[in-house]
Amino acid sequence: MARALVVYESVFGDAKQIALAIAEGLATRLPVDVVSARDAPAQVPAEVRMLVVGGPTHAFGMPEEATRESAIEDHGAEIPDTSFGLHEWLDTVQLPPHINAAAFDTRMDHPTLITKLDHAARIEEKLLRGLGAALAAPAEHFVVVDPEGPLADGEEDRARRWGTALGELVAARPANASG
Ligand SMILES: Cc1cc2nc3c(=O)[nH]c(=O)nc-3n(C[C@H](O)[C@H](O)[C@H](O)COP(=O)(O)O)c2cc1C
Repeated sequence: MARALVVYESVFGDAKQIALAIAEGLATRLPVDVVSARDAPAQVPAEVRMLVVGGPTHAFGMPEEATRESAIEDHGAEIPDTSFGLHEWLDTVQLPPHINAAAFDTRMDHPTLITKLDHAARIEEKLLRGLGAALAAPAEHFVVVDPEGPLADGEEDRARRWGTALGELVAARPANASG
């Protein structure tokens, strides 16, 4: 049976909150699993028809070991293992053929010119394409009011609605279609 999988990285809990809300939206159309990158499977099962990945924007991109260390030093974050997160998972995971995918990130609110350059989802999408996934929808960006959160008002609801839209999109497609 077709399923969805949401894989996230989150330092302060905001991207996790978004991932859970997206999963709630997806769950209106198909069964969903939501896991942190640390707990995500090395090989995504064939029944997964929609993979959603996301995490925080760090230093204009995705979190890496050095930015996770900065989060600990500068913001008192607690990260048990700074060497592994979403980027590292996407570097090694194997995806089934014809999988649909979508990316999200959380970030601070910046002027449009900066936000065009500044988001982790751009790199997430590049890694997904490199793995052969078909991007089912443009990436979404969710705003936090401070580096340590919380999410801006309405962002969790927006994530839930986006999840529902992604679920409808996949439910409308035949099993071997992508793109
Ligand atoms: C080391 C570090 C670098 C960051 N760099 C950026 C950045 O370049 N652009 C931005 O919008 N937010 C930046 N932020 C804020 C994060 O995007 C914010 O902490 C994150 O979205 C919160 O999500 P989380 O609670 O899931 O970790 C940075 C935060 C940290 C800790």
